[in-house]
Amino acid sequence: MNGAGTDPVRGQATEIARGWSAPGAPASWALTAAIFDALAHDEDLLALAADVPADRLPALLFCASAGYLIAEREPEGLIGYFPTEGDPQPAVDAAFEPAFRGFCLDHRDELAAVCARRRYQMNDVARTTQVALALGVVGRRHPGLGLHPDRYRHLMGDGRQFGDARSRLTLHCESDGPLAPPIPGEMPPIEARIGVDVAPIDVTDPDDLRWARACLPPETGSLDRFDRAARLVAAHPGHLRRGDAIEELPAILDAIPDDVLPVVTDTYPAVFFADEQRRRLRQLVRQWGDVRDLVWISLDPLVPLGVEGRHSVQALDVPENLVTEYQRDGVFALLGLVSFEHGHGSGTLLARAHPSGTRMRWLDQATGGAAAV
Ligand SMILES: C[S@@+](CC[C@H](N)C(=O)[O-])C[C@H]1O[C@@H](n2cnc3c(N)ncnc32)[C@H](O)[C@@H]1O
Repeated sequence: MNGAGTDPVRGQATEIARGWSAPGAPASWALTAAIFDALAHDEDLLALAADVPADRLPALLFCASAGYLIAEREPEGLIGYFPTEGDPQPAVDAAFEPAFRGFCLDHRDELAAVCARRRYQMNDVARTTQVALALGVVGRRHPGLGLHPDRYRHLMGDGRQFGDARSRLTLHCESDGPLAPPIPGEMPPIEARIGVDVAPIDVTDPDDLRWARACLPPETGSLDRFDRAARLVAAHPGHLRRGDAIEELPAILDAIPDDVLPVVTDTYPAVFFADEQRRRLRQLVRQWGDVRDLVWISLDPLVPLGVEGRHSVQALDVPENLVTEYQRDGVFALLGLVSFEHGHGSGTLLARAHPSGTRMRWLDQATGGAAAV
């Protein structure tokens, strides 16, 4: 068991289960919540997961590894709960939890082996809708800057759309709350895109694809988006490099021409960084912001990970009502925008979004969440 014991693992599993089973959540999200609930409710499973070192995200890595083995072994009595391509999402019932528990305990050695060789990586392309909305905000402030439209069509619940209208992938996003997100009229053009990942997924490698699918919530919409996006990304190779984001960032920023606005974008890595790594990231952004205009868009849950989450990874002020909602209702991400113009830094919380990226609430920037950085 890792030094921290089972409590942090239970806390993370509970936070995730709550976030996916909020009132009004689509029925197709019930299996994701049920998997994390099964872990949170069971001391034996928690003890297995707690063998995963804390910095490798025990609750998430354990459940992804279980999903990977279930997809491979197709155990009778359990595989039927998981979606198959083209079919409706199966329902979850009371027999799920004991079946999941039994499978994990019977396969504890194989589970430990998958946890040891893989890194948790949930990629949900629908999160790009929030990033695209933030880019639209940046574009309004910097007319003519060097960013570009995304390769997806973003369709909001009220029918408004933006992005690439001819894209083969449409990302749907429901918006609740009193404020409608401002839709970018035209996306600013992107001169170049550079992705960094310590363990990049090779979308042409079948086992990498199986692993990436296992990290996703077992939900028809999420799996379908992933398959379509993986095909789209395979047609545009060469933007992703292997490395540590914080170590690579200075050289990447150095290489960007002076007349192009660098936009550092992170969706769900910074939440998993150690405190010291996050401090270093904020420090790097500030250092570069002192000498050139720069933007940092973050879509990350509150830290620390788990039900105690209360701080923004960008160290922006988080209004108390959002902290209360987070600790009560489970995981969501904050969409934060930090920008430096002529050496002056400012930060704004734009929205809160479900981890799937398919639901969001635009925040009133007049009532908190903004800060000088
Ligand atoms: C939860 S996934 C998020 C992926 C994607 N950005 C999204 O939101 O759908 C986090 C990713 O960050 C990567 N990662 C974790 N630590 C990193 C680091 N220090 N530098 C670069 N990548 C890292 C992981 O390998 C993983 O692919």
